[in-house]
Amino acid sequence: MEEIGILTGGGDCPGLNPVIRAVVRRATLEGWQVLGFRNGWKGIIDDEFVILDDSSVSGILPKGGTILGTSRTNPYKKAGDNERLKSNFYKHNLKALIVVGGEDTLGVAQRLMEEKLPIVGIPKTIDNDLSATDYSFGFDTAVNTVMECIDRLHSTAESHNRVMVVEIMGRHAGWIALHAGLAGGADVILIPEMPVSLEDVCKTIKGRHARGKTFSIVAVAEGAKLLGGEEVAEKKLDEFGHVRLGGIGQVLGELIEKNTGYETRVTVLGHIQRGGSPTAFDRVLGTRFGVRAVELVKERKFGRMVSLKGCEIVDVPLSDAVRQLKLVSRSFYDLAKVFFG
Ligand code: F6P
Repeated sequence: MEEIGILTGGGDCPGLNPVIRAVVRRATLEGWQVLGFRNGWKGIIDDEFVILDDSSVSGILPKGGTILGTSRTNPYKKAGDNERLKSNFYKHNLKALIVVGGEDTLGVAQRLMEEKLPIVGIPKTIDNDLSATDYSFGFDTAVNTVMECIDRLHSTAESHNRVMVVEIMGRHAGWIALHAGLAGGADVILIPEMPVSLEDVCKTIKGRHARGKTFSIVAVAEGAKLLGGEEVAEKKLDEFGHVRLGGIGQVLGELIEKNTGYETRVTVLGHIQRGGSPTAFDRVLGTRFGVRAVELVKERKFGRMVSLKGCEIVDVPLSDAVRQLKLVSRSFYDLAKVFFG
């Protein structure tokens, strides 16, 4: 029986299980067996896998996370890992490997592709910052989760006459903060792409309170920085050299309280944004990506990534996906500013 492999790498997100289910269901139609490698690239380096059939993917459609597990393992980091990965790939005589991941995981896929491994990519990130696809699954679920949290913060902020700062995921791009902030009616939104001065933030809040409002909601992406300021991050790096971000909410909250005199509280949403059941949009997008990825294997279109363009699922070179990040434009941010204050 012919075999294909699949792995999920990087941070998890809602929609991964619908992808795995779709890959297995479509591959079964071809009579192919699917090997699911455990915990991202680590699974293929260590040859840890499970055989996935229709019964192993039954009931996983509404479940968040990934039944395969994930990790931020970089096979180009430790000597020998890349060779072990390739030797396991050839040992199984895999027809192809379907790699579900964000910029780092797909960056590795691109390098392995250059080393002649037959790979098809599926874009995954709640941050929605991969270029070459209009949307990645996980983003819509995260935005809806954050919007609901902002709605909840509104009622308590209003009761206590407080400024509420809410820290939202988004390492380099502020898509989640911008969408959820707009949908939840945040009064100020700070994103990595558009540094704003503390003075402007406080002016907006004070202006609002001068108009009789007694509370404000400030949505801040974890990668945002104040004009002239620094990213707030831990010193520790992951295997791809990224710092762990977090803390801008607290820094900003203290500065706002000091400069406006309004009592301020900070909520860090953290991994709550990555958990939970995928929305209908993410289930359908993941399903479409999974089916199309198997079809690309059948067509032997390796080195390609499935992508959403408008309403259509298309395929693009894997290299396009990792070339540059998709960032929020000035015009979109200016639109959001209409609702600040
Ligand atoms: O890349 C997705 C993401 O959720 C980022 O928004 C966030 O900075 C990071 O992952 C958190 O990673 P970890 O799960 O390793 O803490």
